[in-house]
Amino acid sequence: MKLKHALSLLVITALLFNCSSDSANPGSPDPTPDPTPDPTNSTKVTYTSDIASIINGNCISCHSDPPVNSAPMALTTYAQVKNYVDLIITRVNSSTNPMPPSPNDPLSDSDKSLIQQWKDDGLLEN
Ligand code: HEC
Repeated sequence: MKLKHALSLLVITALLFNCSSDSANPGSPDPTPDPTPDPTNSTKVTYTSDIASIINGNCISCHSDPPVNSAPMALTTYAQVKNYVDLIITRVNSSTNPMPPSPNDPLSDSDKSLIQQWKDDGLLEN
């Protein structure tokens, strides 16, 4: 009987201790709130957040839907851009046959590597 009593006292003490350590945190501000995620390794490249703006800014003047200026296809949706990604990577990196064609400025190196990274990350839409 005495042992049982001691045991339940132990259990109650353990429960109380648990509770008090739990309730020590709420209310007190976290000293390091929201550590800023590192975009270079925790965020994958997606069509919506990275690729659409590159295409819209550099390609849509011809690759609209319907395409104009003799461009052969539209690049206005995720499905279209994803479908052409290999050709797009080839052409934006080509020095002899680049996209966009001259006299347009070529894509920046960072835009080119974003498109490559998009493919490496699995061609995510969002
Ligand atoms: C000034 C108009 C114009 C702009 C801007 C332009 N293109 Fe083009 N694009 C064309 C034309 C015309 C062709 C067809 C002739 C050729 O392949 O060179 C073409 C062809 C292509 C092809 C080859 C398609 C195939 O089936 O062989 C790809 C891929 C492409 N463009 C991607 C792009 C991308 C990506 C951009 C933006 C970074 C872009 N283009 C910007 C006019 C343009």
